[in-house]
Amino acid sequence: MVWQIKPLPSLKGAITIPGDKSISHRAVIFAALAQGQTKIRGLLASEDCLQTIKAFCQMGVKVEKNSAGEYLIDGVGQKGLQPPDQIIDCGNSGTTMRLMTGLLAAQSFYTVLTGDESLRQRPMDRVIIPLREMGAEIWARKDNFAPLSIRGKGLKGIDYRLPVASAQVKSAILLAGLYTEDGVSLYEPCATRDHTERMLQAFNLEIRSNGKQGWLTLAGNSLELLQGRALDIPGDISSAAYFLAGALLTPDSSLRLVNVGINPSRSGILTVITAMGGDFSLLNQREKNCEPVADIIVNSSKLQGTVIKGELIPRLIDEIPIIAVMASQAEGQTIIKDAAELRVKESNRIKAVVTELSKMGVEIEELPDGMIINGPTRLKGGMVLNSYGDHRIAMSLAIAGLLADQEIGIRESESIKTSFPDFQNILGEIRGGS
Ligand code: S3P
Repeated sequence: MVWQIKPLPSLKGAITIPGDKSISHRAVIFAALAQGQTKIRGLLASEDCLQTIKAFCQMGVKVEKNSAGEYLIDGVGQKGLQPPDQIIDCGNSGTTMRLMTGLLAAQSFYTVLTGDESLRQRPMDRVIIPLREMGAEIWARKDNFAPLSIRGKGLKGIDYRLPVASAQVKSAILLAGLYTEDGVSLYEPCATRDHTERMLQAFNLEIRSNGKQGWLTLAGNSLELLQGRALDIPGDISSAAYFLAGALLTPDSSLRLVNVGINPSRSGILTVITAMGGDFSLLNQREKNCEPVADIIVNSSKLQGTVIKGELIPRLIDEIPIIAVMASQAEGQTIIKDAAELRVKESNRIKAVVTELSKMGVEIEELPDGMIINGPTRLKGGMVLNSYGDHRIAMSLAIAGLLADQEIGIRESESIKTSFPDFQNILGEIRGGS
């Protein structure tokens, strides 16, 4: 579907940011494995999260939505999952596939996982290799790609150094580790989002440091301790990022973004906005199930270029396409490096951003692991751009479209439903003075 975006002079109002995608997946997984019922408020009902819900329904977990919009999940306990009688389709969701691979490798039954065309091209050896070291039996197309078939069995613990900074890999090993006798210890080369660790804590299970710098340890056989509970999911900072950028870049804008998760392992976008000279403030800081949350007020600002690299990258990995749009409007040069992982996301995001923003007139150069952008540029419209079926590219181009000199179209914009089904409606609601 081609979505037409008209330029907008300003964005004004308040938006409640929908639930965090990463935390929603984990809430469903832990609720399904707990004893008793978990009530989840604010769960993100996007296509990706619905794939995770569907996977558990296929394995005998009862999931219901009540009249208040809360999800009620009847956990089946550590050994209660049933063998699915059909292939599990993870759709576009890398988180579903990688986390489920860890979990399913430790079950007592056989499963097959597949996904859409994009997901079937994304590397899975990053989870297969450590899980095989734990004793898992997993087969993959070309030993790396879905469909994956998994013959679940008893696994042993592992001490593992992650070769890539990936929360999905970390979480897959932790989920498998819950079923081992001796537990798992992990070393992260660079800290990644710690939602699995915080969700374990919310369920009263603890990740410890094993005393060695950079290592974290999960004791084995811990699952029997999981009890159902009430969970409240914070809003997704990755979804808020589009509105942060929209308000910063359009004149006379002011938005209040309500209920945004500001977990430091995710809030790299705020570090970048500060470095670029953007005007925002955090209000009403609080905590929801071990996750920090705030409201964010953001105002139009004149931005300057910056350098984004190293340990900052995992803290904003999904925000790089929208940061590139911000950089196109900033005075001077922005350099983004150490982000080669972007090439194996829902699309090759380095190529996608460079190709589409170049069409809009941005001075942008592709690097093997990032990009260099020289700003500011008045964006050209009057064309139809490609989103490559990638939700984050589609939403980033939509914000670029607000700034263009003419309307733009965005192909395959339906992909936005994977993480932010209400994006188009919300953008419609906050147009001020257009
Ligand atoms: C996610 C981790 C990140 C991120 C993805 C969600 C998660 O992927 O890009 O959107 O929920 O754990 P990697 O673990 O591959 O870096």
